[in-house]
Amino acid sequence: MLAVTMKILALCFVFLVTSCKCESWDFSVAPAPQIETPSEETAPSPAPEAPSPAPEAPSPVPEGWFDVTKYGAIGDGVKDCSSAFLAAWKAACNHGGESTFFIPEGTFLVGHIIFEGPCYNEGSPLVLLNGTLHAPSSPEAFHDDEWIKFQDLRELHVVGGTGTSLLDGQGQEARKHSTKKRPVSLKLLDVVSGSIRNINLLNSKFFNMNLQKCQNITVLGVNITAPSDSPNTDGIHLSQSTNMNITSSIIGVGDDCISIGPGNTDIFISNITCGPGHGISVGSLGKYSNEEDVVGIRVRNCTINGTTNGVRIKSWRGSPVSNALNMTFEDILMINVSNPIIIDQEYCPHKDCSSLKPSKVKLNNVGYRNIWGTSNTKAAVTLVCSSSTPCENVHLTDINFNYTIQEHKFKDSKYKSDDQNPHIPCLSVKGALNGLQISNFQV
Ligand SMILES: *[C@@H]1O[C@H](CO)[C@@H](O)[C@H](O)[C@H]1NC(C)=O
Ligand SMILES: *[C@@H]1O[C@H](CO)[C@@H](O)[C@H](O)[C@H]1NC(C)=O
Ligand SMILES: *[C@@H]1O[C@H](CO)[C@@H](O)[C@H](O)[C@H]1NC(C)=O
Ligand SMILES: *[C@@H]1O[C@H](CO)[C@@H](O)[C@H](O)[C@H]1NC(C)=O
Ligand SMILES: *[C@@H]1O[C@H](CO)[C@@H](O)[C@H](O)[C@H]1NC(C)=O
Ligand SMILES: *[C@@H]1O[C@H](CO)[C@@H](O)[C@H](O)[C@H]1NC(C)=O
Ligand SMILES: *[C@@H]1O[C@H](CO)[C@@H](O)[C@H](O)[C@H]1NC(C)=O
Ligand SMILES: *[C@@H]1O[C@H](CO)[C@@H](O)[C@H](O)[C@H]1NC(C)=O
Ligand SMILES: *[C@@H]1O[C@H](CO)[C@@H](O)[C@H](O)[C@H]1NC(C)=O
Ligand SMILES: *[C@@H]1O[C@H](CO)[C@@H](O)[C@H](O)[C@H]1NC(C)=O
Repeated sequence: MLAVTMKILALCFVFLVTSCKCESWDFSVAPAPQIETPSEETAPSPAPEAPSPAPEAPSPVPEGWFDVTKYGAIGDGVKDCSSAFLAAWKAACNHGGESTFFIPEGTFLVGHIIFEGPCYNEGSPLVLLNGTLHAPSSPEAFHDDEWIKFQDLRELHVVGGTGTSLLDGQGQEARKHSTKKRPVSLKLLDVVSGSIRNINLLNSKFFNMNLQKCQNITVLGVNITAPSDSPNTDGIHLSQSTNMNITSSIIGVGDDCISIGPGNTDIFISNITCGPGHGISVGSLGKYSNEEDVVGIRVRNCTINGTTNGVRIKSWRGSPVSNALNMTFEDILMINVSNPIIIDQEYCPHKDCSSLKPSKVKLNNVGYRNIWGTSNTKAAVTLVCSSSTPCENVHLTDINFNYTIQEHKFKDSKYKSDDQNPHIPCLSVKGALNGLQISNFQV
């Protein structure tokens, strides 16, 4: 074990250590967690098939079971089922006991819907999604920021489980019209406790999921897919939320797989497969004034494959004062990633950036441990901290990368694929950094 502590002022460093730590990876640590499955057993079976009752007619459905098709929804992908869904939700929400809001198999076309609480006894119906929801595909269809929104609820469980448990944002056309409203597919606002489990999201118009002002929510077993070239299709965006657990999900999109915005605290992310996309990102921070701090982010046991960034922290140039602290990234395999580990405090996608002051977002106590794989650019680790507000206590431990030259990227540069021995700086540092600690760093 080689441990070096130093102050970095210069630009590039190369650390070569002989021992490779890859063997310490253990894929078989814990058994699959026992997930309590709300009411799969207690959930009554669907209404008998034989006499198909008219929508309004009372049917012998079990107590507390609210099937959208009993409120006029038809799963033919054509009929607009928004009002039927809302009627079924209101009935389920106000039901004086436990209830299930059930979407059976079929393709239901629904527009902007708010599933709003509070519901009976400060709880929520179980939302059981066996079918597929289609958003209207027209770029004109939305005047709101979201497609499906759950708001002001407690103990909300949105549960799928079949291959057809799907929210399909039908985003193709709408994404071409940047001036039109492009909604988030699934938004949770002010939801306290609950889970989103075993559902699929596809082809969003904007973010796939946005969890805002939420607490104590687990997202588990969610598959999110959007084309790799689709703008702003972040997989899961968190804002102003606390005590959140994002786990065992597969995300391949055109923007960040997971983005953690300002005001998030105690966020735990694990067992995520990410790619394509822009990786797992804290930020961007410092775009607006009065942003709350980011505290306590833990990302572990993830696989990031074919993305532009791996794990990134970014803040805007010219940002006002705020903090992002106590963040750890560990046990992460990266394959063919362009910027595996990157802190970018000079984020500025606009043209005129030089006049802006350095970022005043203070990064403190950031740990990277046991991260390995392949990088397709010459920088495995890039730390661009603010020149006015130095990063403090950045720890890099057991970082192991091989460089794979991508022919398409370097065909016009001096880095040719046949170059057997390119000069590769593995760590580039710019800006100010206090207390950088590095051990077992190899590229
Ligand atoms: C919904 O899907 C789940 C998972 O496949 C299945 O166990 C359940 O029986 C389905 N429920 C109904 C009412 O069809
Ligand atoms: C967190 O959510 C879980 C699942 O809904 C619930 O059982 C638990 O009581 C909640 N914990 C707190 C502290 O609210
Ligand atoms: C998500 O994708 C995985 C791998 O393709 C699959 O096994 C799983 O069933 C999918 N989940 C859902 C909810 O369909
Ligand atoms: C997150 O959820 C998973 C699955 O329910 C569980 O195994 C894990 O302990 C949770 N982690 C935290 C930090 O709550
Ligand atoms: C990790 O996530 C995958 C889905 O991507 C799931 O099949 C697997 O059971 C999860 N493993 C653990 C230990 O949670
Ligand atoms: C770690 O993640 C991998 C896939 O990324 C999964 O197969 C494995 O079960 C996870 N292990 C734990 C302990 O979560
Ligand atoms: C990484 O992604 C590529 C391209 O999609 C795929 O062929 C490869 O199997 C993936 N590798 C791993 C380890 O998941
Ligand atoms: C590596 O990623 C690049 C995009 O960054 C992609 O074009 C290329 O096909 C990937 N290579 C492999 C072997 O998956
Ligand atoms: C950040 O971590 C340090 C050391 O682990 C701890 O003492 C401190 O209380 C944490 N700060 C916050 C705001 O949680
Ligand atoms: C880097 O490449 C060498 C030689 O092919 C291999 O032994 C080692 O495991 C690779 N390291 C990583 C982190 O992929």
